[in-house]
Amino acid sequence: MNTKTAQELALPVGVTLDRFIMHSQSAFPYATGELSQLLRDIALAGKIINREINRAGLVDIAGGNGTENVQGENQQKLDIVANIRFIRALKNGGEVCAILSEEDEDIIHTGNNHGKYVVAMDPPDGSSNIDVNVSIGTIFSIYRRITPINEPATMADFLQGGRKQVAAGYILYGSSTMLVYSTGDGVNGFTFDHSLGEFILSHKNICSPVRGSIYSVNEGHYNSYPDFVKTYITKCKAMNFSARYIGSLVGDFHRNLLKGGIYLYPSTKKDPKGKLRLLYECYPLAFIAEKSGGKATDGFGSILDIIPDSFHQRSPVYIGSAEMVDEVV
Ligand code: AHG
Ligand code: MN
Ligand code: MN
Repeated sequence: MNTKTAQELALPVGVTLDRFIMHSQSAFPYATGELSQLLRDIALAGKIINREINRAGLVDIAGGNGTENVQGENQQKLDIVANIRFIRALKNGGEVCAILSEEDEDIIHTGNNHGKYVVAMDPPDGSSNIDVNVSIGTIFSIYRRITPINEPATMADFLQGGRKQVAAGYILYGSSTMLVYSTGDGVNGFTFDHSLGEFILSHKNICSPVRGSIYSVNEGHYNSYPDFVKTYITKCKAMNFSARYIGSLVGDFHRNLLKGGIYLYPSTKKDPKGKLRLLYECYPLAFIAEKSGGKATDGFGSILDIIPDSFHQRSPVYIGSAEMVDEVV
């Protein structure tokens, strides 16, 4: 008989997100625990959205809502639901004084002016994919406010630039749900265990492969890409690379982060600044890319060095494995 030891019969569950956050915080003797609590609030909102997404098709969450967001894009029902869920979680948490969301033109004051942090977020990224049961995500970026505590936050708190992020990450609602984040010291990934209702550390200290053989770009727009991008795509084909593009930035980025690859959203003739938004799409993923050893550029320099001038500004982005990003530009 194939007998097992007691240890093998009851394998440890692993490290929960809460324990990991607590442990990381103890490395900073003067930390007050507010950033830790904020990360827990984000995880909680992620769990709620995860629950709703899993029931899409059974509940009325798929499809368009017949409204437009600030970018003039059609809002999906999920855009509205996820936005509300995150705002509510961050308001209830109390650590955040203001939020910038893709779905709202202006910053949202939470009423917690004592809060030390501001959050920029893309509540559901790739939201139109919900209708066809394809992965979507949430992206978040956290700054310590620069305006005085107990006063309302201002634009300046959000326009500090990507280097000032104190933490950033994303939640991927895929074949499993994962939270990936960094507070500047390495990148870690946690997989949601539905039965426990907990995120468990599953991808410790993620390191972006220096190169890979995947390129992710919407080739339907090929004809309107700049020449250097066309040249790079031609090279990828010559090297028999795999083209992988699902149209959810989080999903495409995550695949390339683990396997090695590059994601490109270039400028086009119609959209010289590309499509993706700097503050809640490019900056946070560029932060994760750099902290894992990868790179992110707009074609001129690091995404994180771009000086922002407005909340919803866009930027071309080339992001992923370091050597591939170097090659494209
Ligand atoms: P969002 O759902 O937040 O508006 O983001 C959609 C974005 C991004 O997730 C994706 O990579 C990109 O749009 C796809 O754009 P194209 O359809 O132009 O390729
Ligand atoms: Mn998005
Ligand atoms: Mn979005």
